[in-house]
Amino acid sequence: MAKTKRVLSGMRPTGAAHLGHLLGAFENWVAMQDELDTFYCIVDWHALTTDYADTSELKANTRELALDFLAAGLDPERSTLFIQSHVPEHAELHLLLSMVVPLPWLERVPTYKEQMTQLQDKDLTTYGFLGYPLLQAADILIYRADFVPVGVDQQPHVELTREIARRFNNFYGPVLPEPEVKLTPTPKLPGTDGRKMSKSYGNTIDLAEEEDSIRKKLKTMVTDPARKRRTDPGDPAKCPVFDLHKVFSTEETQAWAAEGCRTAGIGCIECKNALADKVVVQLEPIRKRRKEFESRPDDVRDIYREGARRAREVTAATMVDVRGAVRLLTEEEL
Ligand code: TRP
Ligand code: SF4
Repeated sequence: MAKTKRVLSGMRPTGAAHLGHLLGAFENWVAMQDELDTFYCIVDWHALTTDYADTSELKANTRELALDFLAAGLDPERSTLFIQSHVPEHAELHLLLSMVVPLPWLERVPTYKEQMTQLQDKDLTTYGFLGYPLLQAADILIYRADFVPVGVDQQPHVELTREIARRFNNFYGPVLPEPEVKLTPTPKLPGTDGRKMSKSYGNTIDLAEEEDSIRKKLKTMVTDPARKRRTDPGDPAKCPVFDLHKVFSTEETQAWAAEGCRTAGIGCIECKNALADKVVVQLEPIRKRRKEFESRPDDVRDIYREGARRAREVTAATMVDVRGAVRLLTEEEL
């Protein structure tokens, strides 16, 4: 069956991918591979928008994410996997879009001011950081993607992408179709300290995590603070461990944990062990695939080389249309 609808999504290389990436992106991306023409991109230029002052980890992070993509089940036979900076046409479209996008459109993107205040230690008063969502728009529009699977936090960026496409098309004619957001449901996924799982909090369970380490991390995970002693009953609704049960455990195990917690019939150690069993089983095939690809670096290189080549077939064609629409003079026309 020919895949007629195209999907584009991207992820920043910021370090080891964790359960948050698996639930919030990869599982959804993997599920789309059969029905849709899927393009998945490691957006290394986007990493530079916040981390330009220290690029010492960039290569390693990009390499790790390249492995995480494959480990998570993205299949180079069914998806086009590539690294953003290997497809320089993204930058060319970004430049041309920058001509028509009014600054206030970028200044009022919610993540702009949020990140500025959150990342106080970084100087984000740069042109590149303001242009973050414009680069993202270029990533999407250059593939003339129909759907963009992202979490709800990224929805404003896709909305902006649609507005930019409309404005561009108004000036130059209909060359860039408006993409639709495909929202990924994001279950509550706390890290080991009870806050949202995030690398910056150091509370993650990584895709490459070894079994011992998974068990150790879950053993020390915070629980309902009311359950100080084994004999104190607890409330699963107040326990981040239970939030993870809801994601990884069967209905039966959830019911067993909830009941045992409320009645002090089970201890937190037991409850966490049951969760660890499920997480270990879920990550097992991913870790195995990752090891496998780690031992075949030449194949990984070939996969991303072929991905960039396929991506460039599409981006080259789009840019011919875009340059034509803008009425840039081609060599042949000179
Ligand atoms: N901004 C996205 C994020 O932080 C990453 C991204 C860059 C992206 N380009 C994209 C997502 C294009 C979807 C489509 O998660
Ligand atoms: Fe949390 Fe389970 Fe302990 Fe209850 S028994 S507090 S759900 S870890």
